[in-house]
Amino acid sequence: MPLYIVQNDITSMRVDAIVNAANESLLGGGGVDGAIHRAAGPQLLAECRTLGGCRTGQAKITGGYRLPAKYVIHTVGPIWRGGGHGERELLVSAYRSSLELALANRCETLAFPLISSGVYGYPKDQALRVAVDTIADFLLSHDMTVWLVIFDRASYTIGRQLFAEIDAYVSERYTAGQWTAASCPAPGSLDQAPGHLEGSFSRMLLQKMDERGLTDAQCYRKANLDRKLFSKIRSDIHYRPSKPTAMAFAIALDLPLDEVREMLEKAGFTFSHASVSDIIVEYFIAHQNYNIFEINEALFAFDQSLLG
Ligand code: APR
Repeated sequence: MPLYIVQNDITSMRVDAIVNAANESLLGGGGVDGAIHRAAGPQLLAECRTLGGCRTGQAKITGGYRLPAKYVIHTVGPIWRGGGHGERELLVSAYRSSLELALANRCETLAFPLISSGVYGYPKDQALRVAVDTIADFLLSHDMTVWLVIFDRASYTIGRQLFAEIDAYVSERYTAGQWTAASCPAPGSLDQAPGHLEGSFSRMLLQKMDERGLTDAQCYRKANLDRKLFSKIRSDIHYRPSKPTAMAFAIALDLPLDEVREMLEKAGFTFSHASVSDIIVEYFIAHQNYNIFEINEALFAFDQSLLG
């Protein structure tokens, strides 16, 4: 099921569980740990005191108390010491332990902060990479909806080089006026293509899936889409997807650019250099990168709507 990236305060998220980036004492601290304890109230600390701490890379669960979330999953990320002390493995373990604990407690929705990317000093672009890769890998075989919650823009970066490459790629192609990443226009308008070929989107989708031997689950997970949406498409040949959904399916099918255009047109949309998000998707297709989660990281970095 889908992974969303949102800018928000994790303490306000209405999900089954939020994850706390704690320390091994589990007795509170600053950053998101402090925010969660303040919002949950003193009963959270009282319960944490009974847990006997938590090792780095592990996770423990408590009630959510005054939080809108039912549970808090406390995990401890690694302190960055230069990258040569197993930090990556410990960070992966912190995400995986939290996901598995959420699953064991029948959570259907879960929200993460960017673990270790604050006080613990993990380089922010690498912390984002580990978070998205670990969560995305888990979601390829589990039906859970996960939010990666970014508190402030300063703590979110896809890496200077990638940002600069995409920025240059867009500025060379953008046709709807003066482009600078700083003055990022609002998400591209969902350009309607002339005349919608009734039912042809679903036929093309299902035909391409058959050609690739993709199961429904493999397809909607690769497209960062919800299982329920897919069953809607299966049952209604005239189903009309939104542009981000149609684009997500094209990416999940690893289509070349001309077939992406064709699939969008069958859904009633154009693929256009007047749309920043279309050009960003084109950048990834041109680089043979069909990882929808990495594409969404870049779309989020450029204030565009995400795919899926
Ligand atoms: N909602 C979402 N994210 C938040 C919030 C919030 N309310 N407050 C902070 N963050 C983000 C930070 O911007 C950062 O990207 O959480 C991420 C993790 O930063 P920290 O909270 O500093 O956590 P971490 O780097 O894992 O360090 C853990 O800090 O707070 C102490 O007790 C904690 O000792 C532990 C250490």
